Amino acid sequence: MNKALRKAVIAGNWKMNKTRPEAKELVEAIKPLVADAGCEVVACVPFTNLETVLDAVKGSNIKVGAENCHFEKSGAFTGEISADMLAEMGVEYVIIGHSERRQYFGETDETVNKRTRAALAAGLKVILCVGEMLADRENGITEELVSLQTKIALKGVTAEELKNVIIAYEPVWAIGTGKTATAEQANEVCAVIRNVIGKLYGKEAADGITIQYGGSMNAKNAAELVAQPDVDGGLIGGASLKAPDFAAIVEAATRG
Ligand code: PGA
Repeated sequence: MNKALRKAVIAGNWKMNKTRPEAKELVEAIKPLVADAGCEVVACVPFTNLETVLDAVKGSNIKVGAENCHFEKSGAFTGEISADMLAEMGVEYVIIGHSERRQYFGETDETVNKRTRAALAAGLKVILCVGEMLADRENGITEELVSLQTKIALKGVTAEELKNVIIAYEPVWAIGTGKTATAEQANEVCAVIRNVIGKLYGKEAADGITIQYGGSMNAKNAAELVAQPDVDGGLIGGASLKAPDFAAIVEAATRG
């Protein structure tokens, strides 16, 4: 698989952090540090910060994403935000199927599929998260599970739409725990996902799709992870909230 065929993407996932003034401060601090990035740089922020961050990144190379969206276009879904609402604001990316949404908010592979399709139909780029729990890894079913998650999430997604999909492999046991997958473990599962894409969409699609690693990626371990042949950048939680750390990860991805 040819890594040169695809662009690395470093995306911050701010989760439920930052008031609007804090969001502005953080993104203003990140901007100059990543201005020369050789990879795509994305900040996925809480809904309430989207307008602030969209405004702050104008004229810079930072793209803006949301952390979730609903699958219906509109209607009686109190508290939800549709993909069209995000697109209309100028939001470019949306994270779908993050493990925290699967664990705490009843997200299933089926709703991940519905959200993915709705986001793509609205013209958004999707960062689709898959990954196993510790028990799955211990039971030796990581490959099967992640393959299934990927297949179900992409049901009904066309080859053309797939060009707007990034997959983030995030082992749940590595998220926010400080326990990173080894570079070999990360690469192994990213390669499994690429293989699934190859079976579903063909070699060109498999070669072209960006597959990130996520889970306690930081300024220290990023270089080794993003240097792996099947790892095309990262989805960064905790370390995306500190401008120098996030910039160091962007730099590591720029070097490849
Ligand atoms: P973490 O989070 O970097 O804090 O482990 C990653 C994520 O949840 O996307």
